[in-house]
Amino acid sequence: MVANTLTIRDNRTGREVEFPIESGTEGPSVVDIARFHKEFGLFTLDPGFRSTASCQSKITFIDGDAGILLYRGYPIEQLAEKSNFPEVCYLLLEGELPNQEQYTRFVRTVTNHTMLHEQILNFFKGYRRDAHPMAIMVGVVGALSAFYHDSLDVHNPRHREISAFRLISKIPTIAAASYKYSIGQPFVYPDNSKGYVENFLYMLFSVPCAKFTISPVLVRALEQILILHADHEQNASTSTVRLAGSSQANPFAAASAGISALWGPAHGGANEAVLAMLHEIGSVERVGEYLKRAKDPKDTFRLMGFGHRVYKNYDPRARILKQAAHEVLAELGRGDDPLFRLALELERIAQEDDYFVTRKLYPNVDFYSGIIQSAIGIPINMFTVIFAVARMVGWVSQWKEMIEYGEGIGRPRQLYVGPARRDYRPVAERL
Ligand code: CMC
Repeated sequence: MVANTLTIRDNRTGREVEFPIESGTEGPSVVDIARFHKEFGLFTLDPGFRSTASCQSKITFIDGDAGILLYRGYPIEQLAEKSNFPEVCYLLLEGELPNQEQYTRFVRTVTNHTMLHEQILNFFKGYRRDAHPMAIMVGVVGALSAFYHDSLDVHNPRHREISAFRLISKIPTIAAASYKYSIGQPFVYPDNSKGYVENFLYMLFSVPCAKFTISPVLVRALEQILILHADHEQNASTSTVRLAGSSQANPFAAASAGISALWGPAHGGANEAVLAMLHEIGSVERVGEYLKRAKDPKDTFRLMGFGHRVYKNYDPRARILKQAAHEVLAELGRGDDPLFRLALELERIAQEDDYFVTRKLYPNVDFYSGIIQSAIGIPINMFTVIFAVARMVGWVSQWKEMIEYGEGIGRPRQLYVGPARRDYRPVAERL
C-alpha cells in the first residue's frame, strides 16, 4: 500500500486498484480517478458534482465550513476593504496584485475599450422594450463574437488577452445600455475620465439634460458588490463557461453561456428573488408564515438568499454586505428602511429556528446585496445583470486558465436508464 493513494476494491471480482490522492494548497485533497473506467469498466456517478472536482484551479478558494473566501490567496474581507474592482480584476486575471506601473497600464487599457462598436447598439433596438435585461445580455454578449473577429483564436495568447480586456471593459456599457433601452432613455456613452464603477453608474443613471452627481459612498458600495461577486470557484455559471469554452468556442460565446446559467433563481437570479420575497412578506408579522412554508417539504417556496451548496457557515460576502447596507442607508438618511428592518428580522428569526440551524442555512451574498442596489436606485430586474458585470472577470480568468492548462473538451459520462435497444416499427403497427 502506497501512502497518498486510495485503494478501491471491486467486490464482484476482488480486484483492487490504487488511485493517487492529490493535495492542493488549501481544502480537501482529491482522488484522481481519471483511470477509473479503464481499470474497472465503470463510470462514477455524482449528479450535481457534490463530491467531484471538475478541474484544477489556482484562482479562488472557498472553505464553506469556516466561511472563508480567498481570491488568489487573499481573503475577501481584505480585498473588499482595501482594494478596488480594477485591481481585483488584475489579481484574478494575472495571479498577483499589480505594482503601480502594471496597475496604471491595466486601468488605461480597460478604460480605453469601454465603447461598443456602434453597430452593436442596433441589437438593443431589436428587443421588445419590456425584455428582461438578462435576455438582452445573453444575446448582445454572444453577438460580440460577430464584431471582434481579430481576437477569436483561442490558441493565440494575444487574442485571449484582447478578448479578456474587451469583455471586462465593455460589459458595464452593455449592461447600462440594456437598462437604458428598457426604460426608453437614450444610451449613454462611457466617460473615460471616470473610474470603472463611477462610469458604470454614470451610464446607468445619467441623462443628457441633467448634471450627473453621485455620492462616493454609493460608488464604493457598488464597488464592494462587484469585488464580492467577481469569482466563486466552480459554480454553475463558471463551470458552464469552462465547459462551453472547452470546445474551443470563442470567449464571447462562452461568456454568453455563463450569463444564461447565472440567470436562474438558484444562482445569480436569487438577488432578484430576495427582494421580490421581502416585498411579498411585507411585514415582520408575516415572517413566521413564510418560514413555515420554507420548511414544508411539500411547498416549493424556499427562503431566498439563504443556504449555499458550499457555505455551511455565514457567507463572508453576506457579512460585508450587511455592513455596507447599514452604511448606504445611513448615507441616504434611510437608516430605518422597512425592507432592511424586515431582512434583519427575518435573518434573526431564521437563525433561531431549528430547521435553519441544523441544516446550516445562513444568509448568502444575495440576501443583502439587493437592498443596497435598491437603495442606490438600481431596479430589481437589473440585479442579476450587476452580478454578471462583476462575474465577467471571474469567467474570463477561469476560461483563460482552462485553455492555458490544456484541459481538452469537457465530456461528462452518464448512467443511461432509458429504454434498452429496440426496433423501429411503422406507425400502423404501433399500439
Ligand atoms: N430555504 C429552505 N430550505 C432550504 C434552503 C432555503 N433557502 N436551502 C436549502 N434548504 C434545505 C433543503 O431543502 C435541504 O433540506 P432537506 O435536508 O430536508 O432535504 C437542506 O436545506 C440542505 O440543502 P442543500 O443540499 O444544502 O442545498 P443545495 O446545495 O441543494 O442548494 C441552494 C443550495 C443555494 C440552491 C439552496 O440553498 C437554495 O435554493 N437557496 C435559495 C436560493 C439562493 O439564495 N441562491 C443563491 C445562492 S448564493 C449565490 C451564488 O453563489 O450563486
